[in-house]
Amino acid sequence: MASGALETFISQAATRSREWTEPADCVLVLAPLMLDLIEHAGTFLRPQHYRSEPGSYTRNLIYRASDDSLSLYALVWLPGQWTPVHDHGSWGVVGVVEGVLEERSYVRLSPDRGANEGIELARGGIVLLRSGAVTSFVPNPDHIHVTGVPPERSRAVSLHLYGRMMSSFNIYDVEAGTRKRAAVAHNES
Ligand SMILES: [Fe+2]
Repeated sequence: MASGALETFISQAATRSREWTEPADCVLVLAPLMLDLIEHAGTFLRPQHYRSEPGSYTRNLIYRASDDSLSLYALVWLPGQWTPVHDHGSWGVVGVVEGVLEERSYVRLSPDRGANEGIELARGGIVLLRSGAVTSFVPNPDHIHVTGVPPERSRAVSLHLYGRMMSSFNIYDVEAGTRKRAAVAHNES
């Protein structure tokens, strides 16, 4: 596979995520590992992990557990590229290796009944994550946000570890107050 830093991260992340099944505990013990990993990103990121496309931010798979219990991606954000409003339905730990990743949060005003309609969202604050920063999220209540890079900033690259294969997530139509599960593509390593 790759460098020692990545192998160590994968092995420790697998152990800790098995040990800590509560998502809030899990991200607590995984975030420091991500802090170390991004420091060594230059030792294992290859040109294929920096693939980008003009039409959308790009997700490049770095590692997938054989039982799909963990996945690690490099996300490449060209200026002006954003996600839709979404939540992941699982925990995640994110570390920034290049540029500034912007996160704009949404706050759910309507009760979270697991329904896909009648969802009232208000815009919340933003966070600017520079290279070296680590953030995380947990489900229930869902962490609803948009992430990306405004047109005036340069490319950002971030590493994303999830507690499953992140091949679909929930996207929201804020005006309509609805959400739906949508497939999200990635490039294989
Ligand atoms: Fe997200």
